[in-house]
Amino acid sequence: MTDYIQKRYGIDDVLPGMEVGKDVLTDSGQIMLTVGTILTESIIEGLKCWDVPSVFIQEKISTPKSIDVPVVKEIPLSKSQRKFCNQYDETMSQIKKTFATMRDSKEAPFQELKQLADQSIFPMLESVGVINHLQMIGQQDDYTFQHSVNVAVICGMLGKWLGYTGAALTDLVLAGLLHDIGKTQIPLDILNKPGALSAQETEIMKNHSMLGYKLIKDNKNLSPNIIYAVLQHHERMDGSGYPFKVTKDKWHEYARIVAVADTYAAMTAQRVYHDKDTPFAVVESMNNEMFNKLDPHICTVFLNNVRNYFVGNFVQLSDGRRAEVVYLGQFIASRPTVCTQDGQFIDLERNKNISIIDIIET
Ligand SMILES: [Fe+2]
Repeated sequence: MTDYIQKRYGIDDVLPGMEVGKDVLTDSGQIMLTVGTILTESIIEGLKCWDVPSVFIQEKISTPKSIDVPVVKEIPLSKSQRKFCNQYDETMSQIKKTFATMRDSKEAPFQELKQLADQSIFPMLESVGVINHLQMIGQQDDYTFQHSVNVAVICGMLGKWLGYTGAALTDLVLAGLLHDIGKTQIPLDILNKPGALSAQETEIMKNHSMLGYKLIKDNKNLSPNIIYAVLQHHERMDGSGYPFKVTKDKWHEYARIVAVADTYAAMTAQRVYHDKDTPFAVVESMNNEMFNKLDPHICTVFLNNVRNYFVGNFVQLSDGRRAEVVYLGQFIASRPTVCTQDGQFIDLERNKNISIIDIIET
């Protein structure tokens, strides 16, 4: 029988492939990573983002350097969190396959996509506060896939809040999944460029909505709602969008919904060239922008519902303290009242010198 020990490693010393030996917890005792998790580069990056100083690693006593021997994994305690993460991982691997098929065949496999929506996305919509849960998923290897899944999930929730049901709601989720499908036709060196794009590259990238439209326009299985959403998801109310600079009355409702979901998902995402904004700050800036860019009704329904899940979130303050959100004011979502770990209540709307810099836990 082989014996194992749990050895503590500083966060800068852990490597992809190592196996977590003890649950990694947040300051308030919530499980962030469970025993048995195999570390990947993106998980390690996430741990660094969350300021986790060290991790216990499972090692065989006889061969301490071996990291590839599987051991019996314990059942993690945080069931709902684990369920959501598993559903998310499953969806990510499915969409990678589906997008790869589309890149090669230049066709959208409707049955695969429908199955992905029914079996992977809809179950995730049952999680309470699913949109905040998305914040707990670290940056994945491929932004396009992760973004497509996130937008599909947000479209599903937003659709429900707007009263969509049945086939109309499924179309909306598919529109979210497919909205950036044109990016499968963009050269990979531009798509995956680890930095800001040049003006010329930006113009090439902007073709993706038209390329996506061309890819699916003749697909008889896809409803026109989905096809319009793909074509128009970068249009804006004031005619400042692309590709046709249409204004409010010619902007399809599905495209207006995807635009809200796409904007929120992009602004809350961590990218190589920009730090993610907290959902608090994103809600505030979307609130400021919505009247001339995004559909104000759809945006209001979205922001009001997302705000409801902010109370109870644990956040990192700019002065180094951690705190719980206890009350949201009427107007400025990024400046709620918080209670610090040492029991001090701070109204951030009045204390402008302190701000929320990150969400630690939802
Ligand atoms: Fe897009």
